[in-house]
Amino acid sequence: MAKKKILVLNGPNLNLLGKRQPDIYGRLTLEQINKKVQALAKELGVEVDCRQSNSEGELVTWIQQAPRRYSAIIINPAAYTHSSVALRDAITAAGLPAVEVHISNIYKREEFRKHSYIAGAAVGQITGFGVQSYLLGLRAAVEQL
Ligand code: DQA
Repeated sequence: MAKKKILVLNGPNLNLLGKRQPDIYGRLTLEQINKKVQALAKELGVEVDCRQSNSEGELVTWIQQAPRRYSAIIINPAAYTHSSVALRDAITAAGLPAVEVHISNIYKREEFRKHSYIAGAAVGQITGFGVQSYLLGLRAAVEQL
């Protein structure tokens, strides 16, 4: 049987991981994080496609197209977490189980980061575990398949 596929999406500024506020986001680049996600996916017997965009519209389009090829979505919406009704609506419309992940603990930071527009459309949220947030997110997504 063909392996189930999971789409891993990263929002704005996450292409800067490694050099962006390493005290908060750590020193791993997005490429290094994606390699760890790929390695765990292999172990768990699923396929993952990892993508990043700084554009809200591009992320919406990828989510709209996801049901054709993917069985679940893992998303770090980055700053769009706190602003994007469009991303939330796209996830709801796609109808796929979605897991929201954050590297930092968004509840321990500025007030404006404490609200997520995405959480209400996701199965759940994993926040504050660094790269492990993605790996825990992958395990959670696989449980939803
Ligand atoms: C983030 C948290 C967001 O508040 C922030 O805008 C990001 C990254 C995280 O992974 O901790 O860009 O999603």
